[in-house]
Amino acid sequence: MAVEYVTYQGIKFPPAYNSEQSLHFAHKEFQVQDDDVFNVTYPKSGTVWMIEILSLIRSGGDPAWNRAVLNSNRVPWFTTRLGLETALSYSRPRLLTCHLPVQLFPTSFFGSKAKVVYTLRNPKDVLVSYFYFSKMCSSYEDPESFEQFLQDFLSGDVPHGSWFDHVRGWMEMKGKENFFFITYEELQQDLRGSVRQLCQFLEQELDDRAINSVVENASFRAMKENKMCNSTLLPRDIMDQKKGTFLRKGICGDWKNHFTVAQSEAFDRIYQDWMGGLMEAFPWD
Ligand code: PPS
Repeated sequence: MAVEYVTYQGIKFPPAYNSEQSLHFAHKEFQVQDDDVFNVTYPKSGTVWMIEILSLIRSGGDPAWNRAVLNSNRVPWFTTRLGLETALSYSRPRLLTCHLPVQLFPTSFFGSKAKVVYTLRNPKDVLVSYFYFSKMCSSYEDPESFEQFLQDFLSGDVPHGSWFDHVRGWMEMKGKENFFFITYEELQQDLRGSVRQLCQFLEQELDDRAINSVVENASFRAMKENKMCNSTLLPRDIMDQKKGTFLRKGICGDWKNHFTVAQSEAFDRIYQDWMGGLMEAFPWD
C-alpha cells in the first residue's frame, strides 16, 4: 500500500506520528534547556539501544525505570505530536531523542549548553536493518526489492533523507565540547568502555556496580525481554510483529549476508564520493 509521507524542508518523514506542524515546531519553536541531553541518530543506527543506555545512566544503573516505563516516555521523540507533549511535561533535566538532520535541529539548541550524543553505524548495516524495518512498519513503504531499496538509500530517497547528508552534517559538530560521537560498532566491541566514556561526557559518576548494571540491562538479550523497549507493545497497525522483529539480529556485518559483490562495490564508490576525507574516521569493512 502506498504511504503518504509528510514532507518538511525537502525531507520525507513517516506519517504515523509526524506532521509538518510538529516538525516545524521542533525546528523553530522548541525551547532547548541547557541541561537537555539529546540522543540523535540516523534511523537504524542504535537509537533504542542508546535510549536504554542513557536512561540507565540517568537512574544510576537502577533498571527499575527502564523496566516500568516505555522508552518513548523516558526519552521522548520531541519531533512527533505525542512525543512533544511528553517532552513539554517532562521534568528537567530532560532526555530527548530524534532522527533530525542537523539543519532541522531546534535552532534554540545552537548557543545553548545542551548536549548531543550522536550514534552512527556502518551504513551497509543501517540499510539492511532499514530494509527489514520498512517491511514491518506501516508508516514506511514496503520495499519492492532489496535492489530497489539500495538504490533509494543511495540516492537519499528514503524517510529521514540521505544517510550521507545526515552523517556529514552532524560530523561538522565534531570537536565541540557538547557533542559526543560514538559508533554502534564501538558499543558492540566494548559496551563497558563506551558507558564509562558516556558517563564522563554526561558528568555523571557511576561506580563499577552501577556500570555493570547498565551493561547488563542494555544487552541485546535483556532488551529483547523488556517490553518497555522491544516494541512489542506498539499497536499492530503501526508495527506488525508477524512481519518481523524490531530487535532483529543486533550484530555487525549482517550486510555481508545481503549485498552481492557488485552491490557492495557500487555502494563503496558512492560512499567514497560522499564521505571522502571522513572515511578514515570509521573503520568499517
Ligand atoms: S530506529 O527504528 O531508527 O529507532 O531503530 P534503531 O534503534 O536506531 O536501530 C535498530 C537496530 O539496533 C539494534 N539494536 C541492538 N543491537 C545490539 N545490541 C543492542 N542492545 C541493541 N538494541 C538495538 C536492533 O537490533 C536493530 O538492528 P538490526 O540490525 O535490525 O538487528
